[in-house]
Amino acid sequence: MVIKSAGSASKPRKPTAEAATDLGSQLSRKIVGQAAAIQQIVPYIQMFEAGLAPEGRPVGVFLLLGPTGTGKTRTVEALAEVLHGSEKCVLKIDCGEYQMDHEVAKLIGAPPGYLGHRETVPMLTQQKLHAVTSERSKLSLVLFDEIEKAAPSLTRLLLGILDRATLRLGDNTTVNFENSLIFLTSNLGAREMLKELNPDFGFRAGAPSRDVTGKLEAIGLNAVRRRFSPEFINRIDAVLTYRPLDAASLEAILDQQIGELQRLIDIRLGERRFDVEVAAAARQFLLRMGTSREYGARELKRTIHRHLTQPLAALVAAGGVAPGDRVRVDLKEDGAGLAFQPAIGRLAAAPEQPVVLLVDDNRDLLRYLEKNMTQTGWQLLAAQSARQAYEQIGRRLPDAALLDYLLPDGSGIELAVELRRRGTRAPIIIMTGAQMGPEEEAVCEEYGFPVLRKPFLAADMVRLLRGYLGCNCVASA
Ligand SMILES: Nc1ncnc2c1ncn2[C@@H]1O[C@H](COP(=O)(O)OP(=O)(O)OP(=O)(O)O)[C@@H](O)[C@H]1O
Ligand SMILES: [Mg+2]
Repeated sequence: MVIKSAGSASKPRKPTAEAATDLGSQLSRKIVGQAAAIQQIVPYIQMFEAGLAPEGRPVGVFLLLGPTGTGKTRTVEALAEVLHGSEKCVLKIDCGEYQMDHEVAKLIGAPPGYLGHRETVPMLTQQKLHAVTSERSKLSLVLFDEIEKAAPSLTRLLLGILDRATLRLGDNTTVNFENSLIFLTSNLGAREMLKELNPDFGFRAGAPSRDVTGKLEAIGLNAVRRRFSPEFINRIDAVLTYRPLDAASLEAILDQQIGELQRLIDIRLGERRFDVEVAAAARQFLLRMGTSREYGARELKRTIHRHLTQPLAALVAAGGVAPGDRVRVDLKEDGAGLAFQPAIGRLAAAPEQPVVLLVDDNRDLLRYLEKNMTQTGWQLLAAQSARQAYEQIGRRLPDAALLDYLLPDGSGIELAVELRRRGTRAPIIIMTGAQMGPEEEAVCEEYGFPVLRKPFLAADMVRLLRGYLGCNCVASA
C-alpha cells in the first residue's frame, strides 16, 4: 500500500487524539443518537489529516443505510460544517436524476463528436471537487444520494471512482478522488426495517436494543447485496446503519432546532433581539406534527418554520415584540396550534445593574477595562485565570461575560461553553489577540459567541455589550 506524504494531502491539522475527540464530539453535538455511525467516520478523516491516507483510492467510502429522516444526509452536511465551516461544502449527486443510461452524460459530459458536446458542462469535474474544499481542509465530501436509483452505467462509473479514485470524463480528462470522502446513501431495506421494529419499539419508546440494531443492519446489507454486485460492495470501507430515532433523540433534535432559531434571532436582530420560551405542551405539539416513525425528524424543520418561525416573524413585523421581550409560546386552548404571548417579561439579561464577568490574565488590560466599565454603572466580577473565573461563576452567574481566549490555566471558550451548560443565556464575548484554531472558531460560531479581536477600544467593547444587554438597561458611559 502506498501512503500519501503529508504534503500531498492537506496541511496536517492536529493529528492528535484530542483532535479526533474534538471532531467526534463536534459531530455528536450536531447528529443526535447516531454515535456508532459517527465513530466509524472519524478515523478516516484523521488518516487524511495525518497525511496517511492510502494513495490510489478515495480517503474513505461509506454506505449509509437506514430509515428516512434519521440523519444520513445531515451527517454529511454536519461534517462539511465542521471541516469547512459551511454545510454547503458538499458535492451532492442525486442519483435519482440519473436513472436512465443516457442521462449519465450530464454527469461526465458528452464525448466529442456528440451533438451538443460543448454545451454539456459535467457535474463531476476537478474544479467542482475543489470548490467544495476550503482553507481549513483539502478534503472534499462527495455524496451520492439514493444510489439504488442510479442507472447501471452510473453504477459502473462509481465502481471506477471507488476502486481507483479516478473518473474519466467525456472529453477524456480525468477527475481525481484521492482527497475525497465518498458517501453513498440508500433507503434499501428501510421499509423492511420499519416492519421489523414492532410499533412499540423505537418510536416514542426507549432506544432500540442491540439486538434490533443488529437485525436492521442485516436487513440493510441483504437488500444491498440483492441490488449491487459483490465487487461494488467490496469497495465500501464501512456500512453505517442509522437507527430509528427514539423519543429522547427527537426531543434533543427539537431542542437543537429551537436553539438554532434563537441564535438566528440573536444574530439577525442584534439590539432588537428577544427571547423565545417554548412551553412543554408546545414542544409536544411540534414533535407530534413534525416527527413520525415513518419519516423520523424529516418534517421537524418545516413544522417549526410553519408553526413557530413564521408566526414569530409576523408578530415582529406587526410591532408586537419589543426588544428584550420574552415571548412565551404555548399550545392554543383548542390544541390546534400555538399561541404567542409577548412581553411576559424582560430578558433576564437586562437588569438595572448588570453583572459582567471579565476574565483576562493581562492585569493592565483588566484594570483598564474595569475602569472604563465601572463608569457605565455595571457591576464587575474580574478574574485573571480560569480557576478564579470558575470560583466567580460558582457564586453567581453573570448577566454578560467578556472572556479572554487564552488563559494561563485554560481557555475562555471552554469557560464560555461551561457558562452555557449551566443554563445562562447571557451574552458572552470572546476577546483574542491570537489566531484561533478552526475548532475553536467552529465552537464560537456554533454557540454564537462574538469574537472581539485585540486591540480594541474600550468604547467599542462597552457599545457591544450594551447592545447585547439591551439598550435601555444601563446609564450612559
Ligand atoms: N440524527 C439527527 N440529528 C440531528 N438532526 C436530524 C437527525 N436526523 C434527522 N435530523 C433532522 O431531519 C432532517 C432530515 O434528515 P436527513 O436529511 O439527514 O434524513 P436522511 O436520513 O438522509 O433521510 P432520507 O433517507 O430520506 O434521505 C435533517 O435536516 C435534520 O434537521
Ligand atoms: Mg438523505
